[in-house]
Formats: sequence, C-alpha cells, structure tokens
Amino acid sequence: MTQSNTNTAVSAETVMRERHSVRQYKRDVVIPQETLNEILELSAAAPSSWNLQQWRFLVVQEQAQKDMILPIAYGQQQVSDASVVVVVLGDLQANITGREIFDGALAGGHISQEIRDNMVNQIEGAYQFEQVARDEANKNAGLAAMQLMLAAKAKGYDTVPMGGFDKAKLVEALNIPERFIPVMMIPIGEAAAPARPAGRLPLDKLVINETF
Ligand SMILES: Cc1cc2nc3c(=O)[nH]c(=O)nc-3n(C[C@H](O)[C@H](O)[C@H](O)COP(=O)(O)O)c2cc1C
Repeated sequence: MTQSNTNTAVSAETVMRERHSVRQYKRDVVIPQETLNEILELSAAAPSSWNLQQWRFLVVQEQAQKDMILPIAYGQQQVSDASVVVVVLGDLQANITGREIFDGALAGGHISQEIRDNMVNQIEGAYQFEQVARDEANKNAGLAAMQLMLAAKAKGYDTVPMGGFDKAKLVEALNIPERFIPVMMIPIGEAAAPARPAGRLPLDKLVINETF
C-alpha cells in the first residue's frame, strides 16, 4: 500500500488484506504522539468479556529502552529499529475493573443494585479460577493487539506481532507488576523492506460446515 502517514480513509478490507508482518524498519522515524494515541484508542475499542478491557499497553519509545529489550526478544532487530514497541499486557485481575465499572454504573443510576450484584458476582465467580483469569487475559488482549495492528496499518504504519521474547526477563526489565502478563510485543514503524510473503490455508481446509 503506497499510503502516506496521514488520515487518508482506507477501507477495512484493504487494511486487512495489506497488513503483513514487517520485520525491517527505518530507524529514527518518530510517530506523532497524537497518531500513536489514536492507534491505541482504536485498539482499546476492541470488544472484551464483560467489557473488562483486560489489556494494557506498555509503550516503549526511547531508543535505550528498545535496545535494552532487544536481547530479551532474542535479537529480533525490529525491536530496536521500529519507532515504537507496544507490549500488550493482559490483566489477570480484571475483576477489580469489573467492580469499578459496575459500582460506577450503579452510582450513576444506570443500573439497579440487583444487576450490579449479578454482574459482580458472575465476574468474581469466574475470576476465582486462575486459569479462567489467564485465558481471559490472553484472549482479550489478543483482540486488542489485532485491532492495534489494523489501526496502525490504517494510519500508514506497519507492525509485526511478536511472541518470541523471554517473558520472565521482560517482566523484570520493565517492572511489570504481577497483575499483568505480557501477551504480545508489537513494533510499529515505517517499513524499510516489504514483509516476506506468507500464504494462507485454503478455505476448504479451514471451514467446517455445520458439524465435523
Ligand atoms: C502470537 C504471534 C506471535 C508471533 N511471534 C513472532 C515473532 O516473535 N517474530 C516474528 O518475526 N514474527 C512473529 N509472528 C508473526 C508471524 O510469523 C506472522 O504473523 C505469520 O507468519 C503470517 O504472516 P503475516 O503476519 O505477514 O500475514 C507472530 C505472530 C503471532 C500471531
């Protein structure tokens, strides 16, 4: 896509077809803070279980910080060269957000006490299970991550989703609290070289009609 980094409207289909994992970036490209904020806002418009928004965005822009996490990402050069690296975090304690949201809605007179109690009990019940909390963190942060990549593409930037990094070392290096888990690392920037082609399985391998 030969698209400048302006607010040119581009169709959802074009963005989805033209997003590819770019691994080579021009160095020293600065993404305007306003554009970055728009990308993050669009990402946060993703749906989530109970609207708990189980994602956080740890934004790394300083060159020294990017270089510090380069070895943690096993030397994948895009981490150093891209303009921004967003670490998408998943929230293991999103039930806390649940209470805040539904208490706020009750205080604002938008829901009844009964609805508030039902929702909070449902969420607290589910979050008693560590595996549920972890699944929800990964699932919902993944949705925000996908939306982030599409939003960036719509704004004329490229990305690459990355799971190839040492999670424990990243947690330590960036002081990530226990409440959050790093789900994905997403460098964002201007491509220095196109993505390598990556094919897809044909629909007849992917689609099961009605039942197996
Ligand atoms: C969860 C996840 C983790 C990934 N981890 C890496 C990674 O560590 N390094 C990398 O270069 N690409 C990584 N990728 C990118 C995939 O290789 C890429 O999405 C796939 O080959 C399809 O290519 P495309 O994104 O250009 O369509 C990852 C993708 C996903 C979804």
